[in-house]
Amino acid sequence: MSEPFRRIAVNTGGGDAPGLNAVIRAVVVSALHRGWEVVGIRDGYNGLMTPEAYPEGGLIELTRDSVRGITHLGGTILGTTNRGSPIAYPTQTPDGEWIETDRSDELVEKLNAMDIDALVAIGGDGSLAIAHVLAKKGVRIVGVPKTIDNDLAETVVTFGFDSAVTFAAEAVDRLHSTAEAHDRVMVVEVMGRYAGWIALYAGVAGTADAILIPEIPYDIEKVADRVRERVERGRDFAIIVVAEGAHPIDGERSVVGKAVGQQERLGGIGHRVAEQLAELTGKETRAVVLGHLLRGGGPTTLDRLLALRFGAAAVRAVAEGCYGCMVALDPPTVRYVPLSSAIARMKTVPLDSDTMLTARNLGISFGD
Ligand code: F6P
Repeated sequence: MSEPFRRIAVNTGGGDAPGLNAVIRAVVVSALHRGWEVVGIRDGYNGLMTPEAYPEGGLIELTRDSVRGITHLGGTILGTTNRGSPIAYPTQTPDGEWIETDRSDELVEKLNAMDIDALVAIGGDGSLAIAHVLAKKGVRIVGVPKTIDNDLAETVVTFGFDSAVTFAAEAVDRLHSTAEAHDRVMVVEVMGRYAGWIALYAGVAGTADAILIPEIPYDIEKVADRVRERVERGRDFAIIVVAEGAHPIDGERSVVGKAVGQQERLGGIGHRVAEQLAELTGKETRAVVLGHLLRGGGPTTLDRLLALRFGAAAVRAVAEGCYGCMVALDPPTVRYVPLSSAIARMKTVPLDSDTMLTARNLGISFGD
């Protein structure tokens, strides 16, 4: 059966995650094997929406040479952005106010004008929501789930998560010795806006004393109790892992700001918890924010393999005519799921999951 495709596009959107380049390579090489051409769109959709900003063009022809030797590299050769979503584009009104407007129709026209037969969109919740809107407008699109936060539904795991957890666990390991040497409480803040996957996995693997996650509003007194219990047992130091989206029972998430066309920015919870624990326990505390270190660097072997599997599966999905879908890990296979169900909910940590039970069985406090 001959395939109707000639030219597909690929882009990367939202915050970067280790493994993006591996997906790009798998998409490009698999598509070239089928005799298709592949173009990359620069910086999410910016290469199409604002081509004038790119003197060398907003689209890049992707050849075997362009994707040589990139599987193990962090970042994305196409660039990415988490600003200027085409469905919530920052636009200034005549009276100077900034509002978000939907420019998806314009984007569909631009895709058609570029003779792009299908698009592989690699991204997180925001990018997949854009992909869903485009799919409803007739764009032949396949999504690839990416986020270090692992909060995307319908896939057991996203690529980037293992790399982030591996780095965070190593950081926790390193903090143990300095915490013990100084008899300090070390608070480690990790990314995780609405879901505490990174904090939970790194905290359990790194044998933290308390883990604070968005799913369980915490009582700081309970966390302080855990520190005091340790001190009574002669363990004069403690490690507390905090997800950036964690919040106290009677408080809100720690939001730094929100710009038009962007998600709100979080930050500050680690320092707040450290200050409160110092006050409540009388112990010396320090806060370490791992932040973007978790997104930087190359992918772990697990993430590389998952990213390559996702990229190859996305091209198979295009070839099989499965549009408006997302590739998803459902061990032992990668299957296709509707984008609508992937974006319908956020995958938070199930409180009765085995990893949560393990943490509780090991005596780790969640501040509840
Ligand atoms: O990729 C998701 C994420 O890592 C969140 O955990 C974090 O809040 C956000 O990205 C930060 O993104 P940026 O600083 O790039 O806007």
